Amino acid sequence: MSQDIKKIVDDMPNIPSMPSIVLNLLDQLNAPEPDLIKLSAIISKDLSLTVQLLKLVNSAYFSLSSRVNNITQAAVLLGLNRVRDLVIGSAIKPMVVTICGKNLWEHSIRCAVGAELIAKKLNNDRNEEAFIAGLLHDIGKIILELYNDKFVKEVHNRVLLGDERIKTEKRLFGFAHTEIGKLLISKWNLPNDIGEHVKFHHNPIQSSNKLITSYVYVADRLGQETLMYPIIDPEISENLDFEISDPVSLREEIFAASQPIIDSFSDKTSSGVLVKAK
Ligand SMILES: [Fe+2]
Ligand SMILES: [Fe+2]
Repeated sequence: MSQDIKKIVDDMPNIPSMPSIVLNLLDQLNAPEPDLIKLSAIISKDLSLTVQLLKLVNSAYFSLSSRVNNITQAAVLLGLNRVRDLVIGSAIKPMVVTICGKNLWEHSIRCAVGAELIAKKLNNDRNEEAFIAGLLHDIGKIILELYNDKFVKEVHNRVLLGDERIKTEKRLFGFAHTEIGKLLISKWNLPNDIGEHVKFHHNPIQSSNKLITSYVYVADRLGQETLMYPIIDPEISENLDFEISDPVSLREEIFAASQPIIDSFSDKTSSGVLVKAK
């Protein structure tokens, strides 16, 4: 089966590719000694990406004490990994919004912010890994939508009636958004760890990187537009290495913390950034 679904990802003509600027950036970051000047130069060539990144970096989410006006400064203050993750976010936003809609995009941001928040509350310094895993967790849904949008609607209706999502997707499509999402992550040459979180975000206990996948699982559940009960599956809850004592308050915190990022990614807000297209 996994061979078959790999073929689906490989053969689908309309699957979006990662923009070359992101691939270029990942190449540079994977170099033994990433060069900050080169990286900034790659990003700065793309004006709209630069504006978008500066908007994000200056958003309330990062609460930096001074205003950042260029990419080099952003990379120094936030670190290269964070800049990379925001570039990936900027690259996938149009795909997610165009193919699956704004709700999935906003849910993905909440999952990213939520997973990072949980990591920080538990003093886990892999908070950036949690953020990018949360951002990409449902990326497989773009393939489901491109493959058969009628099945997507049917899954949606069946889930509303109480059916289990993964089982329903497997029954209709022959695969779920989790496993196909992992394949898309590897097709895009993003790190394997991210693929593992994507594959197991509905059942984190099976993940080889259980802790971070569990943060994504909880953030996914809390980041739903409409809360579904039980919020955390009792069987999964028993096997988590942490406890969420007040999920409803945590959900409110996640929604509030996500808003600055959602606004910064939205075209409606004014950036206040001193860069303007001629
Ligand atoms: Fe999901
Ligand atoms: Fe989700």
